[in-house]
Amino acid sequence: MTRIVHVNGSFLPAAEASLPIMDRGFLFADGIYEVAAVLGGRLVDSDAHLARLDRSLGEIRIANPHSAAAWTALMEELVRRNAVEEGLVYIQVTRGAAERDFGFPPAGTEPTVVMFTQTKNILRSPQAETGIAVVTVPDLRWKRRDIKSVALLAQVLAKQAAVEAGVGEAWMVEDGFVTEGSSSTAFIVTADRRLVTRPLSNAILPGITRVAVLRLAEEAGLTVEERLFSLDEAHEAAEAFITSASSFVMPVVRIDGTPLGAGKPGPLARRLRELYIAEARGPA
Ligand code: PDD
Repeated sequence: MTRIVHVNGSFLPAAEASLPIMDRGFLFADGIYEVAAVLGGRLVDSDAHLARLDRSLGEIRIANPHSAAAWTALMEELVRRNAVEEGLVYIQVTRGAAERDFGFPPAGTEPTVVMFTQTKNILRSPQAETGIAVVTVPDLRWKRRDIKSVALLAQVLAKQAAVEAGVGEAWMVEDGFVTEGSSSTAFIVTADRRLVTRPLSNAILPGITRVAVLRLAEEAGLTVEERLFSLDEAHEAAEAFITSASSFVMPVVRIDGTPLGAGKPGPLARRLRELYIAEARGPA
């Protein structure tokens, strides 16, 4: 099937899509992106993703080219044209194409909009059964990690460290504390069953899945603590997991080669995954 992408107002086959080499996304990573899940052909939590897109764009002073309603229509149309049942929708907005100059381009330079879909088995991922191992790496990123910027070099290197270690994710560590995964939010469960994740700040991306999982955990009667946790504390944890639009809730069973607890997905991680999936599926 021909992959259809969306570029600056047009739907077209990916092979026919092109961008100017002077695009600032390409030259300066001067842009923002979003990734939302698709389940049963429907968008998951797309309003929250679009609100974060709007915030990210505002923080770097790119005017949002579309209303939330217009973005939603574009996402739905792209999902339909690519017949995506389960997978992801990717949105990228850059400051547009102009002669290379670090300062903002001349007024009137239009932002570049690129959207595409990816088909992915998020529900029946074999890793959800076994859990994943993670390795830790130093957090090399800039100081505005709350902005979902396309400047992802530190995360690319972190994920490659995971790939080379044969594991599923890299957790980034700063001053001895876990910040987050290379493309996910990090959680631990303490021996007395408290759910711990880092509080929102400029140090991490405000995960959309994180919000839903914290709410589901509270509704299930769990004690939630939004606070820093150290790598040492993570090693002592009863359970751990990551959350993201691309993995939902994924148990972590090993950190830097050391098993957590029984070395199997923990009951709370499994339960929160089930609850999240039930909600994401929406009413039948
Ligand atoms: N990444 N932290 C980072 C650094 C991320 O890149 C992501 C998501 C998350 C989780 O956010 P959310 O729950 O909103 O997906 C946390 C996406 C999936 C990506 O870059 O592909």
